[in-house]
Amino acid sequence: AFILTLNGRSLRQTKRLFKALFHVNHYYYIHVDSVSICNYGFKYAGVQYGKECWCGNEYGKYGQLHEASCSSKCPGESGALCGGYKAQNIYHTGLGEKPNNAVHLVSSLSEEFPKNAVRIAFILTLNGRSLRQTKRLFKALFHVNHYYYIHVDSRQEYLYRELVNQLARFPNVRFAPVRMSTIWGGASLLQMLLTCIKDLLAMKDWNWHFVLNLSESDYPVKTIWDLTNFLTMYRHKNFLKSHGRDTPRFIKKQGLDRTFYECDTHMWRLGTRSLPDGIRIDGGSDWIALSRPFASYVVHGDDALLDGLKTMYRYTLLPAESFFHTVIQNSKFCTTFVDNNLHLTNWRRKQGCKCQYKHIVDWCGCSPNDFKQEDLSRLLGTAEKVTFFARKFEAIVDQTVINKLDAVLYGDYPKGMPGLDLYWQHDFHHEDINTKTDDAYFTFYHSFSRQTADRLETLNRCSITPDEIREVTLFSESDTMSGILVLFSAVVEGRRYQIETYMKPKHKPTKIHSVIGPAGRLVSLQVGTNFDPKELVFRNFGNFLGPYSDISLRHEWGQGKEFDVTVVWVDPAGVIAGSFEETVNQGVYVGAHKPQFQNPLRPGRWTVRLLTDWHLMAEQEFFILPLSHINKRKITKDEALAAHKGPEGFYKEKDFSDLQSVILVTDKKAECEKNGQKFGKDLFDWIDTLSAQLWWIEETCVVESSTSFPCGDLRICADTDWSSRAPDPKSEIGSVDPRTGRIE
Ligand code: UDX
Repeated sequence: AFILTLNGRSLRQTKRLFKALFHVNHYYYIHVDSVSICNYGFKYAGVQYGKECWCGNEYGKYGQLHEASCSSKCPGESGALCGGYKAQNIYHTGLGEKPNNAVHLVSSLSEEFPKNAVRIAFILTLNGRSLRQTKRLFKALFHVNHYYYIHVDSRQEYLYRELVNQLARFPNVRFAPVRMSTIWGGASLLQMLLTCIKDLLAMKDWNWHFVLNLSESDYPVKTIWDLTNFLTMYRHKNFLKSHGRDTPRFIKKQGLDRTFYECDTHMWRLGTRSLPDGIRIDGGSDWIALSRPFASYVVHGDDALLDGLKTMYRYTLLPAESFFHTVIQNSKFCTTFVDNNLHLTNWRRKQGCKCQYKHIVDWCGCSPNDFKQEDLSRLLGTAEKVTFFARKFEAIVDQTVINKLDAVLYGDYPKGMPGLDLYWQHDFHHEDINTKTDDAYFTFYHSFSRQTADRLETLNRCSITPDEIREVTLFSESDTMSGILVLFSAVVEGRRYQIETYMKPKHKPTKIHSVIGPAGRLVSLQVGTNFDPKELVFRNFGNFLGPYSDISLRHEWGQGKEFDVTVVWVDPAGVIAGSFEETVNQGVYVGAHKPQFQNPLRPGRWTVRLLTDWHLMAEQEFFILPLSHINKRKITKDEALAAHKGPEGFYKEKDFSDLQSVILVTDKKAECEKNGQKFGKDLFDWIDTLSAQLWWIEETCVVESSTSFPCGDLRICADTDWSSRAPDPKSEIGSVDPRTGRIE
């Protein structure tokens, strides 16, 4: 076993030495000084690598292949894979071969591009419904000299449709023709990126030098001129962030030593695997900026290592976080690698690593948190650093921080500009065919349209028949959810109109019965669905709950010591649905408790009660609405009876009725049974009575009207400041200013 301790840049001489020493029967253990060359040289040291191939399929059975049959493909069709070229008698220490590639900020003095400025191809990989924020991001990045290649998750009908409508007119914008359902952490994310890069390389009319990927939750912290200046200075470099810890730990944490298979929008973990030896495995962030030559090598390069890695990463979790890094470390581009992803990422691992994606991937992955106003100084602190973007931002959670950042970057918005503190996010669109809408949500939307019609009819003595729900928008003011905007069509005095109504929630405060001892820590209780353990909010922003909702309790506490509390759920009939012990951690704390009741939940007024030592400490009421619609059509009588009668047997495996001696409940079984029989108009009236306890109509407008609206003095929606049709200049895409090359 030779130990070769190497230093300097004399690669060719070192290779001669290596060849002179080499025999397959001996071993070569190589250490390279940490500021010296990277792994690459030894792949080409004249050694015929021994090959070791393995095969597997989606059932996780792996077989060793004979060298003779080890080409880049395994025999057989069904998902067989082959990977791992293994140097049998070379072991690289994997230590210290990162090149020292320090980069510095280049000050950009003017809003002009330097001579020979690079052109950047941005790949925007988009998901969700935050159209207006996505347009702001596009505007902040836009320059006529750069390119914008947009991939929208194939399941996002609304976002794709609207972006194509509004952005396809720019010659430097292109939409990925093949769209994938790029699940979180999925193998498809890398396939999508490689396909996008391949497509970009094939576009002869787009003369780009760098490719850089971003998502809808990124935002720049420097101007497009700063970025262009910087990349022009370092035009031959490749920017990828490495994990910065020891490699074996990274491999374990990342699940790189497991085979994953993406199928039915899920990453299935199949089993353990061994990684190819003799190469350096690296990885970190999947936000990258690649030079065209490296991007071209990754897509079109033809060598065994690249082929093997492409195969391996097709079966890898979070592949884009490691594929490019591993390729660059082991390729002739290794000296162009800069350990920087140009991003400031808001990692708060305590909140962001809660296995929140386990319904999508068989793994516990982490996500960064959203930036909020209080993080502004951290964001501004990047001014002198090689940081051009930050993530994550969500306007529905905190838009103020984005407004402030924008003002720092490109100057203040004009005083009194409409809509600056307002944010609209679409929640429903009638043209979406495959997007599922929760039946409870749809029931509320219809109830809002009926209540609006009833009110206008009563006030104005006219006739309005609402028919179709067309759009629903979440509306927030200064980062507080103000209400829901429901836009529906209706026949009014024989003519069809589109009407938008602004519904505001009635706040249902938590009743606090005791402030003695640990009870004094309680801030609030809230019941909802789709709790996000990272941002600690319910993603069901309208709090629309129905019999099939998977409810949970959010409990928020101030400073104090850890203690236990009993959570008791009581349904509208007075049935104690369940009782659970919850630990309230020390310090400021937000907890979530999911009772996982057997459905359907009985419709009506529920309470959740908190007790310490069986003394009532606080309670919160909430409402389960009966359903008027299932799968966007009216509910049938049989479906209504089944949905509104409460669960078969108990809500949990056991009966909690013996707790009635300590929990005060009123027996309303007979009333609930009668309600459960309701259908037709009676059912609608019941729904509207309950929803009116939760929401009130703030204002109603008419979308456009060539004739005067015959049922009350409604404003035109575009003239209001709240409607989804109201002006919102910060997100509007104007034309290109020829002086600056940016969008006005
Ligand atoms: C974080 C890290 O920032 C990222 O580097 C890592 O890959 C995963 O964890 P996170 O905020 O959790 O990212 O992921 P998110 O922004 O939700 O998604 C990453 C990318 O996948 C985005 O471009 C997003 O648009 C896309 N995506 C996500 C989809 O296309 N469809 C989905 O269903 C989910």
